[in-house]
Amino acid sequence: MKAYLLAATVALLAATAPQAQAQSRRAAQTPPPPPAGMAAPMNTPAPPPATNGQLDYRNPAADPLIPVEADKRKPVTDDLQATVVELLELYHESKQCHWNLRGPLYLPLHEQLQDNADAYLKYADILAERVLQVGNPVDGRTAVVAATANLGEFPGGYLSDKQVLILMTERITAVARRVRQRIDHLSKVDEVTSNQLQELSYELDKHVWKFRVHMQ
Ligand SMILES: [Fe+2]
Repeated sequence: MKAYLLAATVALLAATAPQAQAQSRRAAQTPPPPPAGMAAPMNTPAPPPATNGQLDYRNPAADPLIPVEADKRKPVTDDLQATVVELLELYHESKQCHWNLRGPLYLPLHEQLQDNADAYLKYADILAERVLQVGNPVDGRTAVVAATANLGEFPGGYLSDKQVLILMTERITAVARRVRQRIDHLSKVDEVTSNQLQELSYELDKHVWKFRVHMQ
């Protein structure tokens, strides 16, 4: 394994591919399609060629440095992409509640919602970067989050403390269930990613518990 990585690194440093070869490689690559109605992201696996011909660092000799086997990258990416958009949606919903909350439980819930929001952003970042580690771009655009988080519409305006407890526990529980399914799925594909999702799963269970105690 070490010799393999060393060979890949040497190849990376030594390779100076001719421009024509680089162009045919780009043509052979087919980036994943964007969501319906969306423009393709700029950070696809096949970046556009540099217009001045001087800033093209694309070198396939670096590809063997991606740590996950080629056939496992898509299932890992799909599960992580789905989780990232759900976490970004939970982040926005938590802030929406944090701001518009009213009622006797204002103070503890206001603070807990902020802690939760911080955790969703933290794990969205960790899991998004895992997508990049396995050699794919991640899509965190607001339109993609709105179209794919699949958590239903969220009410606007003031929210009572009771309403927030019900709304947020339902949504966090829905995401926690999906994450458990992905942990199970990824345990057969990539254990490192699966383990990372386990940490998120613990965090989501903790959030549900901290809201549940107000209702029991
Ligand atoms: Fe605040």
